[in-house]
Amino acid sequence: MIQSTFPLTAEEKGKQPDFIDPDFYKGRESKLPPPVQKIYESDFTVLTRKRKSGRAYSKVIMTRKQLSHILYYSYHLFQEQRSHLPVPSACNSRPLRLYVCILNVLDLEKGIYRYHPKNHSLFLVKRFTDAQEELKAIFLGQSFVLQASCLIGLGANLEAAGYRYPSEAEKFVLLEAGHVGQQIQLAAESLNMASCPIARYEQRLIDDFFESQATPMTYVFSIGSRGSLD
Ligand SMILES: Cc1cc2nc3c(=O)[nH]c(=O)nc-3n(C[C@H](O)[C@H](O)[C@H](O)COP(=O)(O)O)c2cc1C
Repeated sequence: MIQSTFPLTAEEKGKQPDFIDPDFYKGRESKLPPPVQKIYESDFTVLTRKRKSGRAYSKVIMTRKQLSHILYYSYHLFQEQRSHLPVPSACNSRPLRLYVCILNVLDLEKGIYRYHPKNHSLFLVKRFTDAQEELKAIFLGQSFVLQASCLIGLGANLEAAGYRYPSEAEKFVLLEAGHVGQQIQLAAESLNMASCPIARYEQRLIDDFFESQATPMTYVFSIGSRGSLD
């Protein structure tokens, strides 16, 4: 039995919510550039061996292209014969919603954004000038988070996850978060950037900060240019 801290879904079998719900994507939209063409490492076997969690970030600013690359190869909705994501999804329920906290990215204001997987764009939720104190409290003093260029948060739409099998909703979202997380780490590594998975945080505070109460945060990744200690 999985014991998690986010709210349980309803037990009634329901209708599958839209993956791209226009009500979820409001506010100013910023299109992301195409992903990086000349990547640092593209050999799958090398990437797999190199993947590790990096908590030391330099002050080198992240570019929008680098952010684009990581989001594209983690959760972009590819429009081919049939639309598909880089990750599998139980009952094709696609329950994850990606949030991005921008801390040090060129030409993007500091703030919270929602990633639109089809448009490959960011929707501004709110701006901030300094979030250091909030981040320290949210991440229970894990101070490396403050040096990251951005945080990618995976919010869970439990209604979507459990639309067919409600009692499986929690298990499904947690497993799917793992799939996306691996993509994030490999995509970051392919750019020689450091990333760290984070699951220790205060649930109420993080959902207030990201405004993700309706899709509670399940997993967060800090990303930045590799620091000297890494
Ligand atoms: C589910 C999960 C939660 C994690 N949460 C945190 C965290 O809150 N803070 C942190 O610094 N690292 C966290 N990590 C990273 C682990 O500490 C790291 O993966 C482990 O030490 C192995 O190191 P490696 O990823 O470099 O191979 C987490 C990893 C996983 C899989």
